[in-house]
Amino acid sequence: MHLPNERRYDAMKYNRCGRSGVKLPAISLGLWHNFGGVDTLENSRAMARRAFDLGITHFDLANNYGPPPGSAEESMGYILKNDLQGYRDELIISSKAGYGMWPGPYGDWGSRKFLVASLDQSLKRMGIDYVDIFYHHRPDPETPLEETMGALYDIVHSGKALYAGVSNYPPELTKRAEEIMRSMGTHLLIHQPKYSMFERWIEDGLLKELREDGIGCIVFSPLAQGLLTDRYLDGIPTDSRAGRPTGFLRPEHVSRETVDKVRKLNDLARERGQKLAQMALAWVLRHGEVTSAVIGSSRVSQIDDAVKALEQPDFTSEELKKIDSILAGK
Ligand SMILES: NC(=O)c1ccc[n+]([C@@H]2O[C@H](COP(=O)([O-])OP(=O)(O)OC[C@H]3O[C@@H](n4cnc5c(N)ncnc54)[C@H](OP(=O)(O)O)[C@@H]3O)[C@@H](O)[C@H]2O)c1
Repeated sequence: MHLPNERRYDAMKYNRCGRSGVKLPAISLGLWHNFGGVDTLENSRAMARRAFDLGITHFDLANNYGPPPGSAEESMGYILKNDLQGYRDELIISSKAGYGMWPGPYGDWGSRKFLVASLDQSLKRMGIDYVDIFYHHRPDPETPLEETMGALYDIVHSGKALYAGVSNYPPELTKRAEEIMRSMGTHLLIHQPKYSMFERWIEDGLLKELREDGIGCIVFSPLAQGLLTDRYLDGIPTDSRAGRPTGFLRPEHVSRETVDKVRKLNDLARERGQKLAQMALAWVLRHGEVTSAVIGSSRVSQIDDAVKALEQPDFTSEELKKIDSILAGK
């Protein structure tokens, strides 16, 4: 059993999630990669323990994280039982359903049938009675939004999730989803969109919508899966996400044009006295609407790096302009 650091809440910043009662750590840990059945459990355990010791109270999962799908939730179950037992009330654990999980017509997208069954499976894999946040993982163009939101509402009222969220929803659909939830007397707690220096779509309407409706925002892949770090400055290391066979970042994503920009961003981060990973995290967290950045990690030191980003959150307007011009390829 792990004995957590008694001073774990001293340095972390906790931000209120939209207009709700719950706060999330500015840095959260995602279990998409490096917590699956193909990974080394001891390393996954060490990262989860380190995260908790640094005040990272939020662990983000989904039904399909692995590989194989479902195995990251099994690892989380193992960690909860063996390392963090007794600390469930200090944790925010999320899961999601929306991508293909089992064969046939009921194992994908956004039906009530899929969401309810998938959450039951997730709870079993993690060995817990409820998740704190349950997300619909991506929009479903065929299922009526009323059905998907109705399922989230019933899941919350069944006690199997405390709060509901959506992920990858565009602004207008988010607004409609929140209207439906409100018409049933509840609320969407949070939205989980992709956001980084290389992926800025949320600046065109989503952040405004979240602010207006008081919905929190946890941004995923804030380091562009590792591109916005010093990892690929000298080629593709074999132990990196792009270098390993199971990751979602492929060698062709590490293009010369991208690495040229990363090199310039890395120089700017050094001028600020930070690592590029830290500047990239401070940059996504600069918006008041962004509650948390959910990072991935392959080793304990990356979690240490991420939390240290909070020591230097501010940007001058010149720095922000310089980042924009580097990203524009100037
Ligand atoms: N809702 C959705 O649709 C969705 C989709 C994707 C992800 N997510 C969530 O977002 C989480 C994070 O996604 P992500 O893993 O793509 O996030 P990310 O933070 O952009 O990338 C994480 C990767 O960057 C590298 N890295 C991290 N810190 C570093 C450092 N200090 N120095 C050098 N390299 C560093 C590591 O890769 P190496 O392996 O190369 O070391 C690490 O695995 C996921 O776990 C999941 O919870 C949600």
